[in-house]
Amino acid sequence: MSVEPPASDVPWWREAVVYQIYPRSFADGNGDGTGDLAGLRSRLPYLADLGVDAVWLNPWYVSPLADGGYDVEDYRRINPEFGTLAEAEAFVAEAHEHGIRVLLDIVPNHLSEQHPWFRAALAAGPGSPERKRFWFRPGRGENGDEPPNNWRSIFGGGAWERVTEPDGTPGEWYLHLFGVEQPDVNWNHPDVAAEMEAVLRFWFDRGVDGFRVDVADLLVKEDGLPDDDKEIGYRPWKGQDGIHDIYRSWRTIADKYDPPRVFVAEAWVKPPELLARFVRSDELHTAFNFDFLTALWTPADLRHAVDTTTEALFTVGAPATWVLSNHDVVRHATRYGRSTDEQNSRMPDVPVDDALGLRRARAAALLSLALPGGAYIYQGDELGLPWVELPVEVLQCPHWVRSGFTRKGRDGCRVPIPWSGDRSPYGFGPDGSKPWLPMPAEWATLSVAAQDTDPDSHLNLYRTALRIRRGHPALGDGGFTWLDSPPQVLAFSREPGFVCLVNLGVDPVDLPPHDEVLLASGSLDDGRLPSDTTVWLASS
Ligand code: GLC
Ligand code: CA
Repeated sequence: MSVEPPASDVPWWREAVVYQIYPRSFADGNGDGTGDLAGLRSRLPYLADLGVDAVWLNPWYVSPLADGGYDVEDYRRINPEFGTLAEAEAFVAEAHEHGIRVLLDIVPNHLSEQHPWFRAALAAGPGSPERKRFWFRPGRGENGDEPPNNWRSIFGGGAWERVTEPDGTPGEWYLHLFGVEQPDVNWNHPDVAAEMEAVLRFWFDRGVDGFRVDVADLLVKEDGLPDDDKEIGYRPWKGQDGIHDIYRSWRTIADKYDPPRVFVAEAWVKPPELLARFVRSDELHTAFNFDFLTALWTPADLRHAVDTTTEALFTVGAPATWVLSNHDVVRHATRYGRSTDEQNSRMPDVPVDDALGLRRARAAALLSLALPGGAYIYQGDELGLPWVELPVEVLQCPHWVRSGFTRKGRDGCRVPIPWSGDRSPYGFGPDGSKPWLPMPAEWATLSVAAQDTDPDSHLNLYRTALRIRRGHPALGDGGFTWLDSPPQVLAFSREPGFVCLVNLGVDPVDLPPHDEVLLASGSLDDGRLPSDTTVWLASS
C-alpha cells in the first residue's frame, strides 16, 4: 500500500501521459502527402482536448529519410518537408500554451551518410582525423575484402560496409549497426560527446522539455571490436558499462535548466535490472517498458511484466512507463487479435480477429493508464487503428530491402492518421492529396470525426480515461497492491480508493465490493465483468 504525496510535489515526468507523434504521418498542412509542422500546429487543440501531458516527436531534422529520419544530416535544422526552425519554435511555444510539454528524439549512435562529418571522413581517406569520429577499419583477409568482424546489422545483413577510397581503390570498412546509410559514431572521440551535448543544449535553449534517446544501449562498443559470440548472450556492441558515463554527463546538463529537462531511454534490454541501470537517479529519468509491450495478452505474462519491471525500476527510485505500441512494432489492436503464439510475430498475413483485437486494445488502454507511473500513447492508438498490410510496392522501411525482401518492415504502423471524411486522405491532407503511404478504404469509421460524438468510441474511452486519471489522486505516480483474484483476472488497488480489474479469461467474473464504477472498457454483463474487459472502480 502506498501513501500518495500531494500531486504538486510529483515531478511531471514521473506520471506523464506522453503522446507519440510520427510527424510524417500526423497531419499534412500543405497537401504534399507528408505530415508537417503546419498540420501538427493545427491539431494541437485536438491533443489538448484528448488530455495528454506531453508529446514526443520522432526525428524532425534534415534527413534523407533512409530510415524515416533516424539518419540525421543536420541536428539543428528541420527537414524542409516538415517546415522551418521558426515553425518548430512556434510549435513548442504553442504546445506550452496548451499545457503540453515537448520531447524530441535524439539519435546519438549514428548519423546520416550525408552528414558533413561522414562526407569529410570519406573524402579524407584512411588514417585521417576525420575518420576517427567513426568506426573505420581495414578489412580482414588477404585483400582486405572480408569485414573487420562478424557483427550483423539490426536491419539484416552484415554491419560493415566497404568504401571506395578517394583514389578509386577498394578501401576501409565502416560500422553501421543499422542501415548502410547510418554510420555509427565513435563515442571514444571527444568531438562526438561535445557535439551531441551541444545539440541537447541547442534544443533545450529553445524551450524543448526533453529527449527520447534513440537506441540508448548501443552507443559504446567493446574495445578491440571482438567478434560477437552468439553463444554467450553477451554482445560487444550493446549494454557496455561506459554508456552510463555519457548519461551522467547529460543529466548534469538537463538539471542545469529551469525547469530541469528530462530523458526517456529507448533500450531494448533484458532483464529489467539492466534497464534499471539506465534510470538511476543521476542518469536518464525514465525508460520505455518494452517488456510490457511484448507481453502476451495472458494474465501470467502481463502480471510477470508488471511485477518484474516495477520491482527493478522502483529499486532505483525510477517510475515505470506503460507502452503498448510505437512506430517500430505491429499495432496492439492487431497483435491482440492474433493467437498468443503469433502476437509478437513480425510476419505478415498472420490471421487476425479484428473485433477481438479492438476489444482487448480498449481493455489494455485502461490497464496501462491505471498502473503506477507514466504511459505512452502512439498516435492512432486512441482511435484503435490496426496495423495495415501494405502492398510491397509502397514499402519504404529499410528492413524490406536489407532483409533481401523477406521482412516487410514497419510501414504498417506508420500509415497516416484519419481525421475526417469517408475516403483517403481522410482529412490527413487537403482533399485530392495523396498520402505518402496509402490509407485503407475501410478507415472512414475510425476517423476522429467519426468517433468524436459517439460516447462509446475508442477515442472517447481514451478521453474519459485521461480526464479521470488527471483528477484522481490514486492515479499516476505511486505504488499499487495486487488483490486476490481468480487466475484469469488481474486485480490491483491504488490508494486512495481505486481498484482496477482486467478479465483475461473467457467467462464473466463478479466485481469486488465497490462504491461506484468509474469507467469500463466495455459494457458490463449484468453487473459482471465480461471477457477481455477492464473496469475502474471507486472503492472506499
Ligand atoms: C530505434 C528507432 C527505429 C530506428 C532505429 C535506428 O529503434 O525507434 O525506428 O530505425 O532506432 O535509429
Ligand atoms: Ca506536407
